[in-house]
Amino acid sequence: MKKRPLKKPHYLNVFSNNAYIQAINQLIRYTNNMQPGQEENIISSKPFKIAIIGLGYVGLPLAIEFAKKYDVLGFDINQERVTELSEGSDRTKEASIEDLKHVIELKKSSDVGLKFSFDVAALKEYNTFIVTVPTPINQFKAPDLTPLIKASEMLGKILKKGDLVIYESTVYPGCTEEDCVPVLEKTSGLKFNTDFFAGYSPERINPGDKINTLTKIKKVTSGSTPAIAERVDQLYRSIITAGTHKASSLKVAEASKAIENAQRDVNISFVNELALIFDRMNIDTNDVLDAAGTKWNFLKYKPGLVGGHCIGVDPYYLAHKAESLGYHPQVILSGRRVNDNMGMFVANKVVKLMINKEQKIAGAKALILGIAFKENCPDIRNTRVVDIYFELKQFGIDVEIHDPWADAAEVKHEYSIDIVKDINNKYDAIILAVAHNQYETLDFNSLKRDEKSVIFDTKSIVDRSLIDARL
Ligand SMILES: NC(=O)c1ccc[n+]([C@@H]2O[C@H](COP(=O)([O-])OP(=O)(O)OC[C@H]3O[C@@H](n4cnc5c(N)ncnc54)[C@H](O)[C@@H]3O)[C@@H](O)[C@H]2O)c1
Repeated sequence: MKKRPLKKPHYLNVFSNNAYIQAINQLIRYTNNMQPGQEENIISSKPFKIAIIGLGYVGLPLAIEFAKKYDVLGFDINQERVTELSEGSDRTKEASIEDLKHVIELKKSSDVGLKFSFDVAALKEYNTFIVTVPTPINQFKAPDLTPLIKASEMLGKILKKGDLVIYESTVYPGCTEEDCVPVLEKTSGLKFNTDFFAGYSPERINPGDKINTLTKIKKVTSGSTPAIAERVDQLYRSIITAGTHKASSLKVAEASKAIENAQRDVNISFVNELALIFDRMNIDTNDVLDAAGTKWNFLKYKPGLVGGHCIGVDPYYLAHKAESLGYHPQVILSGRRVNDNMGMFVANKVVKLMINKEQKIAGAKALILGIAFKENCPDIRNTRVVDIYFELKQFGIDVEIHDPWADAAEVKHEYSIDIVKDINNKYDAIILAVAHNQYETLDFNSLKRDEKSVIFDTKSIVDRSLIDARL
């Protein structure tokens, strides 16, 4: 493309054209902390060769989309995962297997497409690294940056001049520049914003949602200099059909993701608190929400368990950052407390309902339907269904969990619980915990031991005439 000539404003006529252009370039270099000519090299640099670091729920769909247009390496430290993906199978069920196989084949016969590796040396051929590793919390609910720091250390070892590292993992504002970039600088010996650059583009996918998929969700992008922000934005624009939003800085992009999830968490905590209040008044919360929802500006949130590694985790990242700056967040953390106690409330409510029907509690048999943290996906990370399970167990109740999506071995490994894949018993209490599609047509009456059996619906999907209570 032909460059547009730089036009000098008339009030700067005291300078020659050349002097004017040189001064502008110097200004760009100065604000971006670059060497002469470098900003030009980076902006119009080589084609993107992309390596995705971490091939989970976020990394795999991203690798597949980029691989339709670019040369992509999918990298993960989990060798089993790399082998599984290389063979065209995906246990997260997030990616289209057809697409996965297509991009693997594409790579065999062209410059674009996807291949996989767990060998760090394979990363050396690439110039754009997108980090999608987990960002969990530890037992004290503080951010655990170990995977992010380890991935940065690894990248630092293979980083070259002109490379770009984009983080997608959910973090607190400032994490990329304050925690990750120093590790990249230290291990690579290169200088940030001179030798290598950074971007941050938070992921917004919703596991299990086959409608709002990666390319259909507007993506926030950012870069460590204005020119790099444009380059990062250009990269994502090339695959996201819903478009992009270029944020003004890495911190703004990081903060935007943190507050999206914190806002949802706080809103759900409000309706969860209403559920706790209305339970004492014998009012059905969903009936109240339906009535209030007829006003145009009433926000339609539903009560429920808040699990998973996003909404139930990310607010702690924001809170951690706020506390490090001397501010103790009240709304954010009170929302977390309410939501974290909902499993215990459900279990206690079920026991009260059983006692009201004169059931013997110790030795009773209960069935929990669903353990995944949300419907129609196998993801069991930070599922709050286990709170119901362990609370019921404390009453001496014999509890079974059924889930058609979750992997039994993974549940056993994570929570030491044996889930069942078939329902063969009769139960004194049945709790619908996750709204998997399979449960919409389930014959709930056939699961009851007798008329005293209790049915509790945490998702309001079961016919009202069949249930004893719902959230
Ligand atoms: N799952 C979601 O719906 C979702 C949505 C938006 C944002 N996020 C964020 O995206 C990030 C990734 O989440 P996810 O759900 O994909 O996690 P995941 O656990 O499904 O996948 C992460 C992958 O990274 C790999 N990994 C860990 N350390 C590594 C390292 N040092 N080098 C290379 N690979 C490494 C793991 O083996 C795993 O395969 C998190 O920060 C999460 O909060 C997730």
